[in-house]
Amino acid sequence: MKLTVIGGGSTYTPELIDGFARLREQLPIDEVWLVDPDEERLGLVGGMSARMFRAAGHPGRVVPTSDLVAGVSDADAVLIQLRVGGQDARKGDETFPHDCGCIGQETTGPGGFAKALRTVPVVLRVAEAVRKHAKPDAWIIDFTNPVGIVTRALLNEGHRAVGLCNVAIGFQRHFAGMLGVAPHDVRLGHVGLNHLTWERSVNVTGTNGERDVLPELLSTRGAELAEHTELPPALLELLHCVPSYYLRYYYAHDEVLREQLGEPTRAEAVQEVERALLAIYADEREDTKPGELEKRGGAYYSEAAVDLIASLNTNRGDVQVVNLRNAGSIPFLPDDHVIEVPATVTASGVTALPVEPLPVDLAGLVEHVAGYERLALDAAVNGGRERVLRAMMAHPLVQQFERAEKLTDLLIAGNREHLPWA
Ligand code: G6P
Ligand code: MN
Ligand code: MN
Repeated sequence: MKLTVIGGGSTYTPELIDGFARLREQLPIDEVWLVDPDEERLGLVGGMSARMFRAAGHPGRVVPTSDLVAGVSDADAVLIQLRVGGQDARKGDETFPHDCGCIGQETTGPGGFAKALRTVPVVLRVAEAVRKHAKPDAWIIDFTNPVGIVTRALLNEGHRAVGLCNVAIGFQRHFAGMLGVAPHDVRLGHVGLNHLTWERSVNVTGTNGERDVLPELLSTRGAELAEHTELPPALLELLHCVPSYYLRYYYAHDEVLREQLGEPTRAEAVQEVERALLAIYADEREDTKPGELEKRGGAYYSEAAVDLIASLNTNRGDVQVVNLRNAGSIPFLPDDHVIEVPATVTASGVTALPVEPLPVDLAGLVEHVAGYERLALDAAVNGGRERVLRAMMAHPLVQQFERAEKLTDLLIAGNREHLPWA
């Protein structure tokens, strides 16, 4: 099969290549095409990737290219992991909200909104090339943030797309480690919108069938669980579930803001890590995944991607957490909204498993953020200050009109070069 990675010059790519090499029984790849406008990075990352395949005895060919059409032509699957504006734009997302007393984050709040506005038009352009030149049944796997909004943009345009995030697989591995069982024996009651999710049950398969061990874990090892998500144990007890660490931007907003004001941004930290990674990739002797990659947030990304592409291409019918159309799963959301829940994955696509009704507090937040996401996509596709302002004010971390106006103007001024309409 031909697999194409858009944003293939990312320092994350060797993480993917490592997964393709380790899991090649699941995913028989003949060619990996790395597409990126940055030729220098493409050279370094492409060279490293080819050496990794060779060292692992993988027969696949790695082809770096800055030609999008050549990259996607006849592809069986296309993975999109691009970042418009790079870490510099991310640094903007992580700082401009501070002026208005709001946390700065690349996927959540005003920063995530800025990222959506920059990203949606570019991803849609890539997807049109996929529609024209890739195999007719090729899947688009979107890892590009904000995954919920971007995936809905793709689905609205009729693309065969599934959104992917590593938060759920990270929790699955974490719970498996805590319990001393294999990851595949852990089934999560994961629910919500991308980067706004909760683990409401942790079913473990044992000799006597499946059992939800979350209540027990919360009462005996709550502190450990809380530490993992950096939230107070009392909050987990109160909610009877485990929020993902992205909920910290809501449940501990002011604390996070204080922390952010006293530290360098994540973008700057990542730039450091990337410099070290690129130096390794430039070294001809290096041919295995460097330890430095663990300093990135994408742990298990490659496993999740391999699992997903393998099941979409071989009709395995297993259950994985993905981003897909709501279609009634969460009754208070529109059917066309994109949610993140466990789904059965076959060659004809993804189908959500039934979702337990949400308690009102979780439901309220989900509905609020979903409203923002819908307005945000409208603004990303159609442009204009008014649409941006409307979406900005709809975000639960913003709400106030004057604050929304100020954030809107800062966002537009800081991102003008990436906004086709501004
Ligand atoms: C997690 C999230 C991704 C996000 C990443 C950021 O993996 O699920 O959506 O892109 O963290 O990691 P970074 O190393 O760039 O901060
Ligand atoms: Mn994610
Ligand atoms: Mn697996």
